[in-house]
Amino acid sequence: MPNILVVGSQWGDEGKGKIVDFLSNDATVVVRYQGGANAGHTLVISGKKYVLHLIPSGILNKKICVLGQGMVVDYNEFIKEISELSKLGISTTPENVILDENAHLILPYHLIIDAITGKEIGTTGRGIGPAYIDKIARKGIRAKDVGSMGLEEKINKNVGYRNHQINFYLTDEITRRETIRTLCRKNPFLEQFIDDNCYIDAKKVYNDLMEKKQLFSLFIRDAKPILIEAASRCSLLAEGAQGIHLDIDNGSYPYVTSSNTGIGGALNGLGIYVDFDYRIGIAKAYTTRVGEGPFPTELNNPLGEELRQKGGEFGATTGRPRRCGWLDLEVLKKSILASGINYIAMTKIDVLSSLNSIPVCVGYNKSEGASEQPCYEYQNGWNQDISNAKTFDELPTNCQKYVKKIEELLKTKIGIVSVGADRDKTIVIKELN
Ligand code: GDP
Ligand code: IMO
Ligand code: MG
Repeated sequence: MPNILVVGSQWGDEGKGKIVDFLSNDATVVVRYQGGANAGHTLVISGKKYVLHLIPSGILNKKICVLGQGMVVDYNEFIKEISELSKLGISTTPENVILDENAHLILPYHLIIDAITGKEIGTTGRGIGPAYIDKIARKGIRAKDVGSMGLEEKINKNVGYRNHQINFYLTDEITRRETIRTLCRKNPFLEQFIDDNCYIDAKKVYNDLMEKKQLFSLFIRDAKPILIEAASRCSLLAEGAQGIHLDIDNGSYPYVTSSNTGIGGALNGLGIYVDFDYRIGIAKAYTTRVGEGPFPTELNNPLGEELRQKGGEFGATTGRPRRCGWLDLEVLKKSILASGINYIAMTKIDVLSSLNSIPVCVGYNKSEGASEQPCYEYQNGWNQDISNAKTFDELPTNCQKYVKKIEELLKTKIGIVSVGADRDKTIVIKELN
């Protein structure tokens, strides 16, 4: 197998988890390189569904799974995820799950601040932005800092700063008490970190980390030697989270996540240079987005609702309904440029099966004084179930034409077509070798 990078080429939820699970069969190591538990990667294997938030999607194929240094890892979520997986009989030991020592930790105060400040963007509330803020401000707590000298003082300072922030956002006592109580009702786990005055209690935060450290510290080590070894044997598979249009630099800023989701994030988030042979962009056959921000091809009408229902478009992390719209080739072209995508895996094409005509956005019209409007080209539908097709030739002619047309317009090979959520509903058109 070559070294492979998998990135989301839209606004997330393209089906990265499914494709990474499928490809991981030939990998030795699967590594996540950015983001945290804001991700929700769904795998369906013989009808059984698994949702992963932190652990790479190679875990069901029994691969070595690395949480790379570019990630922000909520240790409580990590403990929960590995114990849920092991209850299902899936091995998660320090031999096959490695948390890079340089990865930053998400502590409960990050979740609290995200809940207070993340509404305008519509964040997942998983503490991602606040944790990356601490990292960039050089105040973050890395996995390797757990148990180190001065940790309690550092947490004290960080919590002090966050309590100032609470005062800034929730200016009077009544608002503060009400808001904090409401967010604790929504997420009762947070209540234990709040003091009587509805501020964050640093001691409780520190104690929680200390109490639980033996549950995750065995997983912490320098992952770079493992990654170097896998890359040298051409069997490294890097799994992106979110999508390039949620990238902090390349996305629809400020309606983005707080990391580099594409190749830039991959190289820094692994900590080693890898000349990825394949840079696979996962593209849904239509478009979805969760949270706020621009979405030119969005359908605020019954057709959008139909896509949502047929595609089961509800967030795997927050359960929010995903906004749905047509495929936007301008979005994909930008991602191809930003991450050097040289292979596309197109997912969820089965969801379009009942349409007579399928609009594809090929550019935007800008008339004076008006906002940009998408221009559509219409492809003929195929009006039949394709979910049992095993090869490209078994797909109806119009479906094949749809794939070929998009490939031609993007000037990028569509090498995989996915026709269902299950691992085996995957058609390989171009082998990765
Ligand atoms: P990710 O975050 O990119 O891994 O994507 P999610 O798992 O959040 O969302 C993709 C959803 O679509 C999941 O529920 C998958 O099980 C499902 N899915 C993936 N590929 C296909 C496909 O080809 N067809 C259908 N119908 N569902 C798919
Ligand atoms: P996967 O890996 C879809 C969105 C949020 C919000 C914005 C910022 O499953 O594709 P954050 O919590 O990261 O600060 O939220 O990014 N978002 C996602 N949307 N899929 C994801 O992950 C997402 N992770 C974050 O909805 O708009
Ligand atoms: Mg997802």
